[in-house]
Amino acid sequence: MSTRCRIRLADLGDLEAFSDHVVRHSAESGKEGSVHFAISRYPARPSVRDSARQRWERAIDEALWGRTFLLLEPGGKVVGHLELRGGRFPSEMHRAVLGMGIERAHTKQGHGARLIEAAIAWAHASTRLTWIDLGVFEHNAPARKLYKRMGFVENGIRQDAFRIDAGIAVTDISMALRLR
Ligand SMILES: CC(C)(COP(=O)(O)OP(=O)(O)OC[C@H]1O[C@@H](n2cnc3c(N)ncnc32)[C@H](O)[C@@H]1OP(=O)(O)O)[C@@H](O)C(=O)NCCC(=O)NCCS
Repeated sequence: MSTRCRIRLADLGDLEAFSDHVVRHSAESGKEGSVHFAISRYPARPSVRDSARQRWERAIDEALWGRTFLLLEPGGKVVGHLELRGGRFPSEMHRAVLGMGIERAHTKQGHGARLIEAAIAWAHASTRLTWIDLGVFEHNAPARKLYKRMGFVENGIRQDAFRIDAGIAVTDISMALRLR
């Protein structure tokens, strides 16, 4: 397992590097042997940056908060991320939704598990979250395997949830991890 990449919580100084990573990573979806994993392959960079800023600036008991863990090469380049996002209503503040992605060159090295471990440790230490939810495309075998290995349990299926890449219908699987 490679441990050269480090993981840390993002701050506002990371917005540009994070946005560059999301744009690079999204473009890999469904290309060169990667499964389709993204709802959009070409997210607009300014919108990635501005919406991340809004989420990161919110307190974690505020609606629509977000906190992001970054996977960084030794030189500081962001090559992966995991984000936890809060919901809209006070009554759902005990849950957060997980989204993550690692650039292809850095997959299959154990970083996915490390990112999830970091997020779970942070959720235990710094939040009162009870559940982490996520959605994963049915055909995304690597992601489903990783989530299952980390303790997430499948609890729902949504057929024809997304139509990506000019019309490919994708089934989405819901999973959840109980933290406490
Ligand atoms: C999903 C992702 C985070 C996994 O992280 P990772 O560190 O690369 O994880 P790995 O590939 O090492 O491990 C995942 C598991 O899938 C397996 N796997 C890898 N490629 C596979 C494939 N094509 N088919 C089936 N299983 C596969 C691995 O053997 C591993 O199994 P294990 O748990 O028995 O060891 C990473 O691949 C990624 O970022 N993919 C693109 C974005 C994405 O899919 N995000 C999730 C959206 S919900």
